[in-house]
Amino acid sequence: MLGEVFCDLQQPTLMSNIIDHGLAKGDMHFVIQEALWMLMFAVLGLIFGATCGTLGSYASLKMGEALRSHMLTVALVDRQPGGLEPATLITRITNDVTQMQNLVMMITRGMVRAPMLLLGGVVMSVIVCPDLAPILFVIMPILVIFMLWIVRRSIPLYTKMQQAVDTVNRVMRENLQGAKTIKAYVLEDHQLDQFNDENAQLRQTSQRAAMATVILSPVIQLLLNLGVVVALGYGGSLAISQTISDGQIIAFVNYMIQITSAMIQTVNIITAFSRAITSATRVQAVLDEESAEQLPVVTTVVPTGSDVEFDDVTFGYQQSQPILNHVSFKLPAGKWLGIIGPTGAGKSSLINLLTRSFDQYTGTIKIGGTDIQEMSLAAVHQKITVALQDSLLFSGTVRSNLTYGAKAATDVGLAAANQVAVADEFVDRLPANYDAPVEQAGKNFSGGQRQRLNISRAIVPKRDILVMDDATSAVDQTTNAEIKTRLEQTRSDQTTVIISQRVTNVMDCDQIIVLEDGQITAHGSHAELLKQSDFYRQLVQTQLGGGRHGHASTRTS
Ligand SMILES: Nc1ncnc2c1ncn2[C@@H]1O[C@H](COP(=O)(O)OP(=O)(O)OP(=O)(O)O)[C@@H](O)[C@H]1O
Ligand SMILES: [Mg+2]
Repeated sequence: MLGEVFCDLQQPTLMSNIIDHGLAKGDMHFVIQEALWMLMFAVLGLIFGATCGTLGSYASLKMGEALRSHMLTVALVDRQPGGLEPATLITRITNDVTQMQNLVMMITRGMVRAPMLLLGGVVMSVIVCPDLAPILFVIMPILVIFMLWIVRRSIPLYTKMQQAVDTVNRVMRENLQGAKTIKAYVLEDHQLDQFNDENAQLRQTSQRAAMATVILSPVIQLLLNLGVVVALGYGGSLAISQTISDGQIIAFVNYMIQITSAMIQTVNIITAFSRAITSATRVQAVLDEESAEQLPVVTTVVPTGSDVEFDDVTFGYQQSQPILNHVSFKLPAGKWLGIIGPTGAGKSSLINLLTRSFDQYTGTIKIGGTDIQEMSLAAVHQKITVALQDSLLFSGTVRSNLTYGAKAATDVGLAAANQVAVADEFVDRLPANYDAPVEQAGKNFSGGQRQRLNISRAIVPKRDILVMDDATSAVDQTTNAEIKTRLEQTRSDQTTVIISQRVTNVMDCDQIIVLEDGQITAHGSHAELLKQSDFYRQLVQTQLGGGRHGHASTRTS
């Protein structure tokens, strides 16, 4: 970089020499010799410049790669409620990182080069032509003050602009994800209008931000051109009075042109800097989420017991609004627990705590007698798998989806799990079986099929504790009953938690919890709850017609 600057700074002096010592004296030999020097410095400058550019883009690409992967890691391990929204995370991981990459490119290319060229240009012009130097001393301070003023104005505008990008991303994402719903309600025009509004907002804020900086280059150009005119006029008069030579004036003007280009480069850097400062703050916010994740892990040892205990657990996504209120229960190892309750009661939230998706709660949760806060995440997930209520299939194959929790699972293992989840009947019919493709979010499978693969995926790793969070809600009654029977056959002596809206799914469990509005309002066996809980009794009345209080379980425990 310094080499490039040095080469650039030689040119005007060489040119001045050609004019004053070559052309003025008619010495062609000297002219050719100096011209060759100019050519050599030009080629050298080019080589230095190209090397710098290559190194700069390499550094910038590497930084982008590292930052993106680090941010995604942080986003994935986030265990606090109310973390950053996916839309803003996407903008931060893509757009903001790109801004920072641009800055790295600019820094390596120009951050040192431009100021050096600027400083070098000023020093050289003062040395070559001290008589004209005052022109620079007037122009430069004005320019610096003007540039600082613009930067101060533009940073908040860029912050606003990135926020507008977030919003556009969010609306876009929602629309694309909800395309089916939008079509079903014929809301295309409404959604497009909404999107266009946000888009217009983005255009306006971007325009304002761009306008704030766009004025810089022309102003610099104007002031320095004015300087050139003054230099030519004043310099000309000095030349006539023989105080300075023609070559000196030419050199001075050339240095001014170099200074102009260095200034404009500096402006571009400052613009990129304004944007990158905004982006860096936003990227930092993502990285900061990580610091809250440095939880003290006391043991990576997986407890042998598989009983589950909640002791006075209170939790809320917002501090002020508890979703779970003083929840306490004990599930002995090998027993089955049913959880039933109205929608929004906090059933899934309870499971989220058990799997340590969120850690900000009061009270204690234990697995096998060990506080889960003292277990590593890996240890928790060695003990427990969950067939989540809103679980996603990922693009890949049936096999890649089923082996999420157990990479080494064999086809025999997959077949056994599929059998329990009643997923065998359709997977076996697929031409490629386990290698059959799964599209994004599993949209080439039906809702019920996706749920059965989701259950199978939770069974494949063969964990001591299995949780089914409303995992059969989209499955037909017959299949649902079949899954229940097969689960009972294979897991009768293993800890199992069944969350369901269907009484038939929980009534055979060793204990059942009725969760209403974040509180356990009843806890006991089916027969006990019929006596204790109005909510449960009514549910049984509605779903079973009140006549079926006994049960036909295949479970023996
Ligand atoms: N990520 C979240 N952020 C903020 N609030 C949430 C979040 N997830 C759930 N809630 C709120 O917590 C409450 C309990 O939700 P939860 O999903 O635990 O209910 P649920 O009992 O599983 O309901 P359902 O039977 O419909 O699945 C609801 O009022 C919901 O609005
Ligand atoms: Mg739920």
